[in-house]
Amino acid sequence: MPRAAIIGTGFHVPERVVTNEDLTAWMDTSDEWITQRSGIKERRWLEIGPDGRTVESGAEMGARAARMAIEDAGIEPADIDQIIYATLNPDVFFPGNGVFIEDLLGLKTAGAMDIRNQCTGFVYGLAAADGFIQAGIARTVLVIGGEIQSTALDLSTRGREMAVLFGDGAGAAVVQASDEPGRGVLASVLHSQGRFALDLMLRSPEAVVPGRITPEHLAQGQHHPTMDGSLVFKHAIRRFCEAIDEVLEKGGAAIGDVDLLVPHQANQRITEAVGSRMGLAPEKVFSNIAKYGNTTAATIPIALAEAVREGRLRRGHLVVTVAFGSGFTWGANLIRW
Ligand code: ACO
Repeated sequence: MPRAAIIGTGFHVPERVVTNEDLTAWMDTSDEWITQRSGIKERRWLEIGPDGRTVESGAEMGARAARMAIEDAGIEPADIDQIIYATLNPDVFFPGNGVFIEDLLGLKTAGAMDIRNQCTGFVYGLAAADGFIQAGIARTVLVIGGEIQSTALDLSTRGREMAVLFGDGAGAAVVQASDEPGRGVLASVLHSQGRFALDLMLRSPEAVVPGRITPEHLAQGQHHPTMDGSLVFKHAIRRFCEAIDEVLEKGGAAIGDVDLLVPHQANQRITEAVGSRMGLAPEKVFSNIAKYGNTTAATIPIALAEAVREGRLRRGHLVVTVAFGSGFTWGANLIRW
């Protein structure tokens, strides 16, 4: 049975840099608070054009990341037979962003599937790509994680706990069937616990509301994301560690074999707590949250693309990707690069 190997990576982030200092113009916050609590120094937010819309769509950012990954893989767009697009922020309510990618890349009717698993979207997407390849449904899968967070955030002091954490961006991986012994996705684990669904969410627009959104909902800020930050924080550290242990056991590896841990970039304190609980040296734990903040489904593919270009991720390395987020959902992939 072929395994799914990641043969190319790419990413794209908006040009506009928003520093912690910039945020103080909108809300009562400080560089010191944000840096201490999250490790974030700046994030990228899309510019708003004269027509009142972002200068790029989520799908356009995803397509730019995908083109870079396709070139890196040395394949042609026509080789892709399946798109898996992970986002919690589709450009429109429906259809999902995958079909826009099909059109933007000119893929000639490749399959397109969207995954709504928030911060865990890329981990679920990679597991799905592996399954599609092993089952013979697809041979070359484009897995994208992309988000426009900036337009949903409450930039007043009411929304500061969330607003300071998130950024925009997209990352992509080309995943292809490989017969090379030992290469590719060795194991994946996926979990959810829906009793916490409302503890990290964006409620409106809602299908159960005639008209989907009302002036009252807007006044209450239901179109902004909300969370119980300390609850998320505690669950995240525990579930990250459990998922790493579980995926290593499933793949027949030990923590000492891991060359690089690429965790979802939620908060530098979460990343450091997980690295230290797992007994990993800091250089084995990838972090770029200081530059980009939390780009939810995009953090892991952006991190993989940067790790490759920084020479920290090379052929033969054993990599663990792990994520936790809204749902709650969490999971991990064990990959021989
Ligand atoms: N600037 C200044 N003060 C703030 C800000 C801000 N941006 N946001 C909140 N505060 C205030 C609060 O109002 C509160 O004030 P009070 O004590 O007077 O009520 C106080 O700061 C809270 O401070 P702490 O308890 O020290 O905050 P904590 O250490 O819990 O950090 C944080 C908060 C950063 C949100 C943390 O809980 C966290 O990172 N949680 C995980 C959230 C997360 O990652 N969510 C992303 C989606 S899920 C995921 O990616 C895993």
